[in-house]
Amino acid sequence: MSKIFLNLMFIFVVACGLAYIGHLHSRASLWSAGSCESLKEPYLIAHGRVLREFTLMDPEQAPAAINSSVMRGYNLFLHTAYYAPHYAKNELSCCSCHFTGGNTLGGINGGISLVGVTKIYPQYSERDKKTISLTERINNCFRRSLNGVPPPENSREMYDLVNYIKWISAKAEKLDKVTWLGLNALKSTHKPDAQEGHKLYLQFCAACHQVDGSGGGNILTPEDGKAIPPLWGPNSFNDGAGMNNIKKLAPFIYLNMPYQQAALSESEALDVAAYLISQPRPQFNP
Ligand code: HEC
Ligand code: HEC
Repeated sequence: MSKIFLNLMFIFVVACGLAYIGHLHSRASLWSAGSCESLKEPYLIAHGRVLREFTLMDPEQAPAAINSSVMRGYNLFLHTAYYAPHYAKNELSCCSCHFTGGNTLGGINGGISLVGVTKIYPQYSERDKKTISLTERINNCFRRSLNGVPPPENSREMYDLVNYIKWISAKAEKLDKVTWLGLNALKSTHKPDAQEGHKLYLQFCAACHQVDGSGGGNILTPEDGKAIPPLWGPNSFNDGAGMNNIKKLAPFIYLNMPYQQAALSESEALDVAAYLISQPRPQFNP
Protein backbone atom coordinates (compact mmCIF):
# COMPACT_ATOMS: atom_id res chain seq x y z
CA MET A 1 0.00 0.00 0.00
CA SER A 2 1.27 3.46 -0.79
CA LYS A 3 2.24 5.90 1.93
CA ILE A 4 -0.28 8.44 0.67
CA PHE A 5 -3.07 5.91 1.01
CA LEU A 6 -1.99 5.06 4.56
CA ASN A 7 -1.91 8.73 5.47
CA LEU A 8 -5.37 9.27 4.00
CA MET A 9 -6.63 6.30 5.99
CA PHE A 10 -5.12 7.79 9.14
CA ILE A 11 -6.80 11.16 8.53
CA PHE A 12 -10.10 9.40 7.91
CA VAL A 13 -9.87 7.42 11.15
CA VAL A 14 -8.98 10.55 13.14
CA ALA A 15 -11.87 12.48 11.56
CA CYS A 16 -14.33 9.71 12.47
CA GLY A 17 -12.86 9.67 15.97
CA LEU A 18 -13.33 13.41 16.40
CA ALA A 19 -16.90 13.19 15.16
CA TYR A 20 -17.48 10.41 17.68
CA ILE A 21 -15.96 12.44 20.52
CA GLY A 22 -18.28 15.32 19.57
CA HIS A 23 -21.18 12.91 19.67
CA LEU A 24 -20.19 11.62 23.12
CA HIS A 25 -19.88 15.16 24.43
CA SER A 26 -23.28 16.23 23.16
CA ARG A 27 -24.87 13.13 24.60
CA ALA A 28 -23.12 13.70 27.91
CA SER A 29 -24.55 17.20 28.23
CA LEU A 30 -28.02 15.88 27.51
CA TRP A 31 -28.22 13.48 30.38
CA SER A 32 -25.82 14.72 33.02
CA ALA A 33 -28.12 17.44 34.25
CA GLY A 34 -26.95 16.98 37.85
CA SER A 35 -23.63 18.80 38.03
CA CYS A 36 -21.77 16.00 39.72
CA GLU A 37 -22.72 13.04 37.50
CA SER A 38 -19.75 11.42 35.75
CA LEU A 39 -19.57 10.38 32.10
CA LYS A 40 -19.79 6.60 32.20
CA GLU A 41 -19.40 5.99 28.47
CA PRO A 42 -15.99 5.83 26.84
CA TYR A 43 -14.07 8.79 25.49
CA LEU A 44 -11.83 8.31 22.46
CA ILE A 45 -8.28 9.44 23.08
CA ALA A 46 -5.22 9.55 20.84
CA HIS A 47 -2.59 7.03 21.84
CA GLY A 48 0.37 7.61 19.56
CA ARG A 49 -1.23 7.45 16.09
CA VAL A 50 -4.16 5.29 17.13
CA LEU A 51 -7.37 6.28 18.80
CA ARG A 52 -8.55 4.12 21.61
CA GLU A 53 -11.40 4.05 24.04
CA PHE A 54 -10.83 5.35 27.54
CA THR A 55 -13.38 4.84 30.29
CA LEU A 56 -13.33 6.87 33.47
CA MET A 57 -12.88 5.16 36.81
CA ASP A 58 -16.06 5.02 38.88
CA PRO A 59 -15.37 5.97 42.53
CA GLU A 60 -18.03 3.50 43.68
CA GLN A 61 -16.04 0.67 42.09
CA ALA A 62 -12.90 1.28 44.19
CA PRO A 63 -11.81 -1.96 45.89
CA ALA A 64 -13.04 -2.67 49.41
CA ALA A 65 -9.71 -1.84 51.08
CA ILE A 66 -9.88 1.82 49.93
CA ASN A 67 -13.54 2.20 49.00
CA SER A 68 -14.69 4.18 52.01
CA SER A 69 -11.73 6.58 51.82
CA VAL A 70 -12.20 7.11 48.05
CA MET A 71 -15.92 7.75 48.59
CA ARG A 72 -15.22 10.22 51.41
CA GLY A 73 -12.73 11.98 49.12
CA TYR A 74 -15.32 12.06 46.33
CA ASN A 75 -17.87 13.57 48.71
CA LEU A 76 -15.33 16.17 49.83
CA PHE A 77 -15.01 17.20 46.19
CA LEU A 78 -18.77 17.52 45.76
CA HIS A 79 -19.71 19.12 49.09
CA THR A 80 -16.50 20.72 50.30
CA ALA A 81 -17.81 23.24 52.83
CA TYR A 82 -20.16 20.66 54.34
CA TYR A 83 -17.55 17.94 54.87
CA ALA A 84 -14.49 20.17 55.48
CA PRO A 85 -15.93 23.19 57.35
CA HIS A 86 -12.64 23.88 59.15
CA TYR A 87 -10.74 24.23 55.90
CA ALA A 88 -13.14 25.51 53.22
CA LYS A 89 -14.41 29.01 53.97
CA ASN A 90 -16.60 30.02 51.04
CA GLU A 91 -19.60 28.74 49.09
CA LEU A 92 -17.64 26.91 46.42
CA SER A 93 -16.85 23.19 46.23
CA CYS A 94 -13.94 21.60 44.42
CA CYS A 95 -16.47 20.48 41.80
CA SER A 96 -17.54 24.09 41.11
CA CYS A 97 -14.42 24.19 38.90
CA HIS A 98 -13.33 20.52 38.76
CA PHE A 99 -16.70 19.31 37.44
CA THR A 100 -17.85 15.87 38.62
CA GLY A 101 -14.93 15.82 41.04
CA GLY A 102 -12.38 16.34 38.24
CA ASN A 103 -13.44 12.99 36.82
CA THR A 104 -13.69 14.15 33.19
CA LEU A 105 -11.20 14.58 30.38
CA GLY A 106 -11.57 18.38 30.43
CA GLY A 107 -12.31 19.87 27.02
CA ILE A 108 -15.67 21.43 26.20
CA ASN A 109 -18.06 21.45 29.19
CA GLY A 110 -15.74 19.13 31.19
CA GLY A 111 -14.38 21.66 33.71
CA ILE A 112 -10.79 21.28 34.95
CA SER A 113 -9.83 17.59 34.79
CA LEU A 114 -7.79 15.89 37.49
CA VAL A 115 -7.64 12.47 35.81
CA GLY A 116 -3.97 11.48 35.72
CA VAL A 117 -2.79 14.46 37.78
CA THR A 118 -0.77 12.09 40.02
CA LYS A 119 1.54 11.60 37.04
CA ILE A 120 2.69 15.23 36.89
CA TYR A 121 3.46 15.88 40.59
CA PRO A 122 5.83 16.76 42.22
CA GLN A 123 6.12 19.67 39.81
CA TYR A 124 7.86 23.06 39.73
CA SER A 125 5.37 25.83 40.50
CA GLU A 126 6.01 29.29 39.04
CA ARG A 127 3.66 30.74 41.68
CA ASP A 128 5.42 29.09 44.63
CA LYS A 129 8.90 29.36 43.10
CA LYS A 130 9.65 25.80 44.17
CA THR A 131 8.79 22.19 43.42
CA ILE A 132 5.50 21.24 45.07
CA SER A 133 3.85 17.91 45.87
CA LEU A 134 0.28 16.94 45.02
CA THR A 135 -0.82 17.72 48.59
CA GLU A 136 0.77 21.16 48.41
CA ARG A 137 -1.08 21.73 45.12
CA ILE A 138 -4.37 20.68 46.74
CA ASN A 139 -3.62 23.07 49.59
CA ASN A 140 -3.20 25.92 47.14
CA CYS A 141 -6.79 25.36 46.04
CA PHE A 142 -7.93 25.34 49.71
CA ARG A 143 -6.13 28.60 50.47
CA ARG A 144 -7.06 30.41 47.27
CA SER A 145 -10.06 28.86 45.47
CA LEU A 146 -11.82 27.92 48.74
CA ASN A 147 -10.49 31.05 50.52
CA GLY A 148 -9.70 28.76 53.44
CA VAL A 149 -7.01 26.98 55.42
CA PRO A 150 -5.03 23.96 54.23
CA PRO A 151 -5.82 20.63 55.90
CA PRO A 152 -2.66 19.19 57.50
CA GLU A 153 -0.70 16.61 55.46
CA ASN A 154 -1.69 13.85 57.91
CA SER A 155 -5.39 14.79 58.26
CA ARG A 156 -8.09 12.38 57.22
CA GLU A 157 -9.41 14.93 54.73
CA MET A 158 -6.09 15.09 52.86
CA TYR A 159 -5.71 11.31 52.99
CA ASP A 160 -9.17 10.87 51.45
CA LEU A 161 -8.72 13.55 48.77
CA VAL A 162 -5.43 11.99 47.67
CA ASN A 163 -6.90 8.46 47.63
CA TYR A 164 -9.78 9.68 45.50
CA ILE A 165 -7.47 11.49 43.05
CA LYS A 166 -5.20 8.42 42.87
CA TRP A 167 -8.17 6.20 42.12
CA ILE A 168 -9.58 8.34 39.27
CA SER A 169 -6.00 8.61 37.90
CA ALA A 170 -5.17 4.89 38.02
CA LYS A 171 -5.81 4.14 34.35
CA ALA A 172 -4.42 7.42 33.00
CA GLU A 173 -1.18 6.85 34.95
CA LYS A 174 -0.35 4.05 32.53
CA LEU A 175 -0.55 6.28 29.43
CA ASP A 176 2.62 7.83 28.00
CA LYS A 177 1.12 11.27 28.24
CA VAL A 178 -1.89 12.91 29.87
CA THR A 179 -2.95 15.65 27.48
CA TRP A 180 -6.14 17.05 29.00
CA LEU A 181 -4.89 18.61 32.25
CA GLY A 182 -4.80 22.35 32.98
CA LEU A 183 -6.24 25.40 31.28
CA ASN A 184 -4.29 26.85 28.36
CA ALA A 185 -4.39 30.61 27.78
CA LEU A 186 -6.57 31.54 24.79
CA LYS A 187 -4.72 32.32 21.56
CA SER A 188 -6.80 35.42 20.76
CA THR A 189 -4.91 38.76 20.85
CA HIS A 190 -8.15 40.63 21.64
CA LYS A 191 -7.67 43.31 24.32
CA PRO A 192 -10.05 42.37 27.17
CA ASP A 193 -12.74 45.00 27.76
CA ALA A 194 -14.48 44.79 31.15
CA GLN A 195 -17.31 47.13 30.08
CA GLU A 196 -18.21 44.92 27.13
CA GLY A 197 -17.81 42.02 29.57
CA HIS A 198 -20.45 43.54 31.85
CA LYS A 199 -23.00 43.57 29.01
CA LEU A 200 -22.17 39.99 28.08
CA TYR A 201 -22.41 39.00 31.75
CA LEU A 202 -25.98 40.34 31.96
CA GLN A 203 -26.88 38.52 28.76
CA PHE A 204 -25.24 35.13 29.32
CA CYS A 205 -24.44 34.66 33.01
CA ALA A 206 -26.66 36.68 35.35
CA ALA A 207 -29.67 34.38 34.94
CA CYS A 208 -27.77 31.78 36.97
CA HIS A 209 -25.00 33.58 38.85
CA GLN A 210 -27.22 36.67 39.59
CA VAL A 211 -26.61 40.29 38.65
CA ASP A 212 -24.54 40.77 41.83
CA GLY A 213 -22.45 37.62 41.20
CA SER A 214 -23.59 35.95 44.42
CA GLY A 215 -24.82 32.78 42.71
CA GLY A 216 -27.75 30.98 44.23
CA GLY A 217 -30.52 29.09 42.61
CA ASN A 218 -32.13 26.83 45.13
CA ILE A 219 -30.42 25.66 48.28
CA LEU A 220 -30.72 22.00 47.33
CA THR A 221 -29.85 20.28 50.61
CA PRO A 222 -27.61 21.39 53.51
CA GLU A 223 -24.96 19.12 51.99
CA ASP A 224 -25.23 20.57 48.48
CA GLY A 225 -25.61 24.23 49.42
CA LYS A 226 -26.20 26.66 46.55
CA ALA A 227 -26.90 25.10 43.16
CA ILE A 228 -24.93 27.91 41.49
CA PRO A 229 -21.62 29.08 42.99
CA PRO A 230 -20.79 32.78 43.50
CA LEU A 231 -18.34 34.48 41.10
CA TRP A 232 -17.29 37.38 43.33
CA GLY A 233 -18.02 38.92 46.72
CA PRO A 234 -17.22 37.54 50.19
CA ASN A 235 -18.21 33.94 49.41
CA SER A 236 -16.21 33.39 46.23
CA PHE A 237 -12.57 32.55 45.45
CA ASN A 238 -9.96 35.08 46.65
CA ASP A 239 -7.67 37.33 44.63
CA GLY A 240 -4.80 34.84 44.90
CA ALA A 241 -6.75 32.10 43.09
CA GLY A 242 -5.83 30.80 39.63
CA MET A 243 -9.34 31.81 38.57
CA ASN A 244 -8.47 35.44 39.33
CA ASN A 245 -5.91 35.28 36.51
CA ILE A 246 -7.34 36.03 33.06
CA LYS A 247 -5.05 33.38 31.50
CA LYS A 248 -6.96 30.71 33.46
CA LEU A 249 -10.39 32.30 33.86
CA ALA A 250 -10.90 33.18 30.16
CA PRO A 251 -10.26 29.64 28.85
CA PHE A 252 -12.40 28.19 31.67
CA ILE A 253 -15.32 30.41 30.61
CA TYR A 254 -14.66 29.83 26.91
CA LEU A 255 -14.77 26.04 27.36
CA ASN A 256 -17.44 25.73 30.07
CA MET A 257 -19.88 28.62 30.38
CA PRO A 258 -22.84 29.06 30.15
CA TYR A 259 -22.89 25.79 32.05
CA GLN A 260 -22.92 22.76 29.76
CA GLN A 261 -23.58 25.05 26.80
CA ALA A 262 -20.25 26.81 26.23
CA ALA A 263 -21.11 29.41 23.62
CA LEU A 264 -18.87 32.48 23.82
CA SER A 265 -16.18 33.43 21.33
CA GLU A 266 -12.62 33.83 22.62
CA SER A 267 -12.96 37.64 22.60
CA GLU A 268 -16.23 37.45 24.53
CA ALA A 269 -14.74 35.05 27.08
CA LEU A 270 -11.81 37.47 27.58
CA ASP A 271 -14.22 40.42 28.06
CA VAL A 272 -16.39 38.58 30.62
CA ALA A 273 -13.28 37.34 32.45
CA ALA A 274 -11.98 40.92 32.66
CA TYR A 275 -15.33 41.98 34.13
CA LEU A 276 -15.29 39.21 36.79
CA ILE A 277 -11.71 40.05 37.76
CA SER A 278 -12.62 43.75 38.16
CA GLN A 279 -15.18 42.83 40.86
CA PRO A 280 -14.44 42.78 44.64
CA ARG A 281 -13.44 39.50 46.32
CA PRO A 282 -11.59 38.36 49.46
CA GLN A 283 -7.89 39.12 49.73
CA PHE A 284 -5.41 36.25 49.77
CA ASN A 285 -3.29 36.16 52.94
CA PRO A 286 -0.01 34.38 52.13
C1 HEC B 1 -12.52 28.46 41.84
C2 HEC B 1 -12.14 27.30 41.06
C3 HEC B 1 -11.45 26.14 41.78
C4 HEC B 1 -11.87 25.45 42.89
C5 HEC B 1 -13.10 25.69 43.72
C6 HEC B 1 -10.88 24.43 43.13
N1 HEC B 1 -9.90 24.49 42.18
FE1 HEC B 1 -8.32 23.19 41.95
N2 HEC B 1 -7.66 24.29 40.38
C7 HEC B 1 -8.25 25.44 39.88
C8 HEC B 1 -7.41 26.00 38.84
C9 HEC B 1 -7.70 27.27 38.05
C10 HEC B 1 -6.30 25.15 38.73
C11 HEC B 1 -5.10 25.32 37.78
C12 HEC B 1 -5.32 24.62 36.48
C13 HEC B 1 -4.11 24.83 35.59
O1 HEC B 1 -2.99 24.48 36.02
O2 HEC B 1 -4.26 25.31 34.48
C14 HEC B 1 -6.49 24.09 39.71
C15 HEC B 1 -5.60 23.04 39.88
C16 HEC B 1 -5.77 22.00 40.78
C17 HEC B 1 -4.89 20.85 40.89
C18 HEC B 1 -3.66 20.61 40.00
C19 HEC B 1 -4.08 20.26 38.59
C20 HEC B 1 -2.98 20.33 37.58
O3 HEC B 1 -3.27 20.04 36.39
O4 HEC B 1 -1.84 20.65 37.89
C21 HEC B 1 -5.38 20.05 41.89
C22 HEC B 1 -4.82 18.73 42.36
C23 HEC B 1 -6.56 20.71 42.41
N3 HEC B 1 -6.78 21.89 41.70
C24 HEC B 1 -7.35 20.24 43.45
C25 HEC B 1 -8.45 20.92 43.99
C26 HEC B 1 -9.19 20.47 45.14
C27 HEC B 1 -8.91 19.22 45.94
C28 HEC B 1 -10.16 21.40 45.37
C29 HEC B 1 -11.15 21.46 46.50
C30 HEC B 1 -10.56 21.43 47.83
C31 HEC B 1 -10.05 22.41 44.33
N4 HEC B 1 -8.99 22.10 43.52
C32 HEC B 1 -10.90 23.51 44.17
C33 HEC B 1 -9.46 25.97 40.27
C34 HEC B 1 -10.21 25.53 41.35
C1 HEC C 1 -27.33 27.59 33.50
C2 HEC C 1 -26.72 28.23 34.63
C3 HEC C 1 -25.38 28.89 34.40
C4 HEC C 1 -25.07 29.90 33.52
C5 HEC C 1 -25.98 30.60 32.53
C6 HEC C 1 -23.67 30.23 33.76
N1 HEC C 1 -23.16 29.43 34.74
FE1 HEC C 1 -21.25 29.51 35.50
N2 HEC C 1 -21.66 27.90 36.67
C7 HEC C 1 -22.87 27.25 36.76
C8 HEC C 1 -22.76 26.11 37.63
C9 HEC C 1 -23.88 25.12 37.99
C10 HEC C 1 -21.42 26.07 38.05
C11 HEC C 1 -20.79 25.01 38.96
C12 HEC C 1 -20.64 23.71 38.24
C13 HEC C 1 -20.64 22.48 39.13
O1 HEC C 1 -20.81 22.61 40.35
O2 HEC C 1 -20.52 21.39 38.55
C14 HEC C 1 -20.75 27.24 37.46
C15 HEC C 1 -19.43 27.58 37.67
C16 HEC C 1 -18.82 28.73 37.19
C17 HEC C 1 -17.48 29.16 37.53
C18 HEC C 1 -16.51 28.47 38.48
C19 HEC C 1 -16.95 28.52 39.92
C20 HEC C 1 -17.05 29.91 40.53
O3 HEC C 1 -18.03 30.15 41.26
O4 HEC C 1 -16.18 30.75 40.30
C21 HEC C 1 -17.25 30.33 36.82
C22 HEC C 1 -16.01 31.19 36.86
C23 HEC C 1 -18.44 30.60 36.05
N3 HEC C 1 -19.39 29.62 36.31
C24 HEC C 1 -18.61 31.69 35.20
C25 HEC C 1 -19.72 31.88 34.38
C26 HEC C 1 -19.80 32.92 33.36
C27 HEC C 1 -18.76 33.97 33.11
C28 HEC C 1 -21.02 32.76 32.75
C29 HEC C 1 -21.56 33.53 31.58
C30 HEC C 1 -20.78 33.49 30.37
C31 HEC C 1 -21.70 31.64 33.40
N4 HEC C 1 -20.88 31.14 34.37
C32 HEC C 1 -22.97 31.20 33.06
C33 HEC C 1 -24.05 27.63 36.13
C34 HEC C 1 -24.16 28.60 35.15
